[in-house]
Amino acid sequence: MTKRCYITTPIYYINAAPHLGHAYTTIAADVLARHFRGRGRAAHLLTGTDEHGQKIEDAAKAAGKHVIDFCDTTSAKFRDLWKHLDIHVDDYIRTTEKRHEDKVQELFALLLKNGDIYKGRYEGLYDVVSESFVKESDAMKGPGGVLLGPDSGKPLQRLSEETYFFKLSKYAPRLLEHYKANPDFLAPKSRAAELHRFVESGLEDISVSRTKVKWGISVPGDPGHTIYVWFDALINYWSAAAGAEDLWPADVHIVGKEIFRFHGVIWPAMLIAAGLPLPKKVFAHGWWTVEGHKMSKSLGNFISPYDITAEYGVDALRYFLLREMPFGNDGDFSKASLVKRYNAELANDLGNLVSRVSEMVDKFLGGRLPTKPPLGEDFYTTAVAKRTSEISAKMEALDFCGALDVIWEVIRSLNARVNEKSPWKLAKEDAKQCELVLFDLVWSLRLVSGWLDPFMPSTAAKIHMQLGVRLFPDALTAEDVLAGKTQRPGLIQKGPVLFPRKV
Ligand code: MSP
Repeated sequence: MTKRCYITTPIYYINAAPHLGHAYTTIAADVLARHFRGRGRAAHLLTGTDEHGQKIEDAAKAAGKHVIDFCDTTSAKFRDLWKHLDIHVDDYIRTTEKRHEDKVQELFALLLKNGDIYKGRYEGLYDVVSESFVKESDAMKGPGGVLLGPDSGKPLQRLSEETYFFKLSKYAPRLLEHYKANPDFLAPKSRAAELHRFVESGLEDISVSRTKVKWGISVPGDPGHTIYVWFDALINYWSAAAGAEDLWPADVHIVGKEIFRFHGVIWPAMLIAAGLPLPKKVFAHGWWTVEGHKMSKSLGNFISPYDITAEYGVDALRYFLLREMPFGNDGDFSKASLVKRYNAELANDLGNLVSRVSEMVDKFLGGRLPTKPPLGEDFYTTAVAKRTSEISAKMEALDFCGALDVIWEVIRSLNARVNEKSPWKLAKEDAKQCELVLFDLVWSLRLVSGWLDPFMPSTAAKIHMQLGVRLFPDALTAEDVLAGKTQRPGLIQKGPVLFPRKV
């Protein structure tokens, strides 16, 4: 059985509606999955929601709802957004599902049995916002000496509870060995170095159960304890793969940089302890700020993806997020840079090229797809096709921005070619030469739209349609087109403007 390429996103907390940051990670995962599918490799995209723990319990209480009703409502918002953003989700896991709860208990029981989980007492600090135990030395001092979470900046709770511990300390040497033997396991390299140093400095055992939190999965055989929400959540990647022999281990866990330690240290240690194969890669991308500020409740500057798509369309958002900041870096989201890229790259470079080419074929060849001229000619398309492997290598390294750099280089070169060859002059002077130039332009653009497909599925489908690859009404989705039949193949059909200019 060939293994499916198993790609995951974090499972998102459902205390609030999804925003731009969540959309970013899930779009990236979808782009990667679509890339593999386009290359003939089956891909499986898992996303979902993280529904247990104190933060969710508190949020439901504040909303005056039963916790599970609250979870149902918000989890559905995430699922709806993925549909809206043209994200093809193969499996959507919720940690309140029985298929997950059973697996969490199974893994917990296994580690308890083999001595990797033991009972003790936790005396220390807890950050509800990030649902993490915080070392005294990592806490920040706020006004009046109040201790604050290092990431959240919010007041910490002081806990004193009986707890189960996971022997994380025991696994530091094994983790370091794994990092060394698998240099691509943690990516990007700049962020991996920080994790290496963290593990080299020695690990402490971590608390993996709570007695004061009721909304969680109970510890097998000790119902007074619920399993720590992160221990529960990380297992989702494995519980969702239960019963499928062609999925585990995951090929890549895509996560934000703030949860790299959970995925690059704790999760692999849990898997080693359970005797399970480790994921092949954990990729930590950077964070978006908005107009120069961190997105936060107090600033009320969470960007709703719906607001952006209403104005610019789904594909423009998908494109911009992966174009504007190299995957792995931090960056800033601003309306001004979105509009700039939209007009310059989508409306001008790409949109104009498509409409110019289809118009010229319409005008000079009566809409007939130019046929391949006699062999032995020096086709530009051949040079363009050679870029495919370069683009693939970048996509597979999750260098989406680098792949788009190459694609745009080609798009610009095609625009330059139109100007240089001036097919409108050739049409009058040398019909054969005109057809040859149009052949190159059409076939090159067909390749370009194939490369664009993972990023902008419906735009790629429209370009395909205009270039006679498959002719469908606009309303059909990319999936329809991919699955579909061909109508009147071979005819170039001018379509509406792909990206109307914005002011
Ligand atoms: N529930 C945990 C993850 C458990 S995974 C086993 C969690 N959830 S979260 O709702 O807070 O989502 C965090 C993730 O959302 C980040 O890791 C990142 O993927 C994405 N982002 C949230 N805000 C973001 C930005 N401002 N910028 C980029 N991505 C961000 O943590």
